[in-house]
Amino acid sequence: MAKDRAHTRYVCQECGAVSPRWMGRCPSCERFNTMVEERIQDRTSNQSAAANTAGRPPLAVKEVSGERVERLRTGIDEVDRVLGGGIVPGGFMLLGGDPGIGKSTLLLQLAGSVGASEPVIYITAEESLEQIRIRAERLGAMPKNLFVMAEDRIEVIEETLADARFKLAIVDSLQTVYNPEMESAPGSVSQVREVASRLMRVAKAHLPIFLVGHVNKEGSLRPVA
Ligand SMILES: Nc1ncnc2c1ncn2[C@@H]1O[C@H](COP(=O)(O)OP(=O)(O)O)[C@@H](O)[C@H]1O
Ligand SMILES: [Mg+2]
Ligand SMILES: [Zn+2]
Repeated sequence: MAKDRAHTRYVCQECGAVSPRWMGRCPSCERFNTMVEERIQDRTSNQSAAANTAGRPPLAVKEVSGERVERLRTGIDEVDRVLGGGIVPGGFMLLGGDPGIGKSTLLLQLAGSVGASEPVIYITAEESLEQIRIRAERLGAMPKNLFVMAEDRIEVIEETLADARFKLAIVDSLQTVYNPEMESAPGSVSQVREVASRLMRVAKAHLPIFLVGHVNKEGSLRPVA
């Protein structure tokens, strides 16, 4: 059906090139059989990346409210400094780095610190809840307000984070969370784009998010696959 067609595109799993129709060979990187179908979702206004400002006409910059935004302090001084004094509402922060460098450890420590005063949720798509608990014990990061969840489906994560009770979320990681309705594997170009854009919308609409991202040998956040 023509209507369905308009909602499908093909994405090269090697280089990320996009084409409206399937091709055996990617026109960009020239590799074979790398194009995978991806459904394009309708963008309604409440899904917009700028959900809280959608539909407003352009403003002169000096007319934009100059009230200082309230920042959520992480309680880890070095992190607060990097963030310019703390986490801003709608903040979407990607923590990249090689495997084993300490991303999960740092963010669990941070979650423990924030959780001493505000409700925080740490969502892992990489480890078991038992592993997280053992690490939390070792770090002394076990406040009552730190919640943990082992989940890798993006829609379940979205639903959980739309609940207004959390002030901060950690999602570990970009390459292991996925949309099961898409054909491509977790960590592929299509999935990484999908997950990043959906979590960004959640961040703008609901609560700041720290997202863990694996970095490849070239130092870019390209897919693991
Ligand atoms: N009980 C422990 N004591 C000290 N260091 C540990 C312990 N368990 C794991 N580590 C180390 O902590 C480091 C950080 O791991 P992790 O936070 O899982 O990294 P990442 O999430 O970036 O892959 C690893 O090098 C790991 O070997
Ligand atoms: Mg980790
Ligand atoms: Zn390609």
